[in-house]
Amino acid sequence: MIGHEGLMLGIDIGGSGIKGAPVDLDRGEFAELRHRVETPQPATPKAVLRAVGEVVTYFDWEGPIGCTFPAVVQGGTVVTASNVDRSWIGTNAADVLSNKLGHPVLVVNDADAAGVAEMEFGAGRERQGTVLIVTLGTGIGTSLFVDGTLVPNTELGHIEIDGVDAETRAASRWRNAHGLTWKQWGGRVNKYLCRVERLVWPELIIIGGGVSRKHERFFPYLDTRTPIVAAQLRNDAGIIGAALLAARAS
Ligand code: BGC
Repeated sequence: MIGHEGLMLGIDIGGSGIKGAPVDLDRGEFAELRHRVETPQPATPKAVLRAVGEVVTYFDWEGPIGCTFPAVVQGGTVVTASNVDRSWIGTNAADVLSNKLGHPVLVVNDADAAGVAEMEFGAGRERQGTVLIVTLGTGIGTSLFVDGTLVPNTELGHIEIDGVDAETRAASRWRNAHGLTWKQWGGRVNKYLCRVERLVWPELIIIGGGVSRKHERFFPYLDTRTPIVAAQLRNDAGIIGAALLAARAS
């Protein structure tokens, strides 16, 4: 598919899967079913580049691309690596992907991309003021918007609670890994959110990530003072946001 009017390829690099789809930029929806490949383990730059290449080839995509990465990304360079191979640190992901694919690739933090999509097409549409998006998955991602403008790389998933990195207790992977009930895990999420809201005083919190599909299982255990809603674009938000940002940049 030659990059065409109104469409942009978005790719979401996650801890377990690398997913992509051409995104209809006016509607904020996939123009075709998404394609997923397993994230290689270890997720070294070389192995991930190959996997991203597979997704691009699947769609026969020729043109600019937007891509998420689950770490701090500044000017295309990966700065941290909580849930990916440490050899990424210092790598300019945008440059290596652009060179490999032969087209400009914009690389952004995964939670920031998901937030951009939610603000444009989902639960944050037309919301002014301070809005915090929290994605619960392998890690905890956050994106913060002030009157619709993104404050990038907020990384509030890593605040310290009870002496440990919050994401090592409240990310959704621990619900299964530690055999927690919804109530137990919901309690952890609640403690986390109550702490975060006292740092940034948002007017709305949007909960994203795959588990937001099951929000009615754990929302009853949340008693923040800030209103909380589930993300509307769920796990598609990263792909859609990456595509939107790439379109804005090209
Ligand atoms: C990373 C963030 C990322 C989040 C969700 C965290 O461990 O530090 O950059 O957004 O996981 O993938």
